Amino acid sequence: MSTRPRLAVLASGSGSNLQAIHDDLQRRGAASPIDLALVVSDRVRAGALDRARGWGVPAVHLPREANDTLGALLATHHITHVALAGYLRLIPAETVRAFTGRMVNVHPALLPAFGGPGMYGHRVHEAVMAAGVRLTGPTVHFVTEHYDEGAIIAQWPVPVHHDDTATTVAARVLEAEHRLFPWCIAELARGTIALGADGRAHGVALYDFARFQPDPNDRHPFAG
Ligand code: GRF
Repeated sequence: MSTRPRLAVLASGSGSNLQAIHDDLQRRGAASPIDLALVVSDRVRAGALDRARGWGVPAVHLPREANDTLGALLATHHITHVALAGYLRLIPAETVRAFTGRMVNVHPALLPAFGGPGMYGHRVHEAVMAAGVRLTGPTVHFVTEHYDEGAIIAQWPVPVHHDDTATTVAARVLEAEHRLFPWCIAELARGTIALGADGRAHGVALYDFARFQPDPNDRHPFAG
């Protein structure tokens, strides 16, 4: 067994973030700092499982009743890092603790706004529209025992246009997720991002804002 870091991606849905992570690792080729070693879903028909099978990556359906066996499953596959990509089950507390600083989640809004229990999927974007905020975007953060509360690693501002709907905003945010989340996972695996003893994410000085801009085709928001 190689000593390279091994990633498990947990996903309940179609797995477009999983696809982005996979594609990013493929692009990096031999320089990739981590191997995609396992995909887990609580939904038997999740697109994420089909994608993983197509790549020859172990794909496991973990039904709700077996949620407390997640830690054992990750251990069996020698997993070192976990990425939650639209996973709707609460991670058992002992598993969260076992992966402190090595488990990350992507949330489709700028936390700490529009997060917490019940704030997932389309509801997030509907709440964003209802609040009338002008800026939204994905947040990648470390996972704690509480929904959406861990130290923030990175965020990508995405504009909300006056003619947007929750659906159009969701699509724009998802595009940003697909670029931000794989980057965070790779940097975490390389050790350039880490959870500090102070409970905050460190190494984010490496975060290059020039790479993470709102829609570059936008006019300057305050020009004429
Ligand atoms: C994403 O919007 C993510 O932010 C949220 O769940 C969604 C997953 O989408 N946590 P997909 O399955 O990766 O397409």
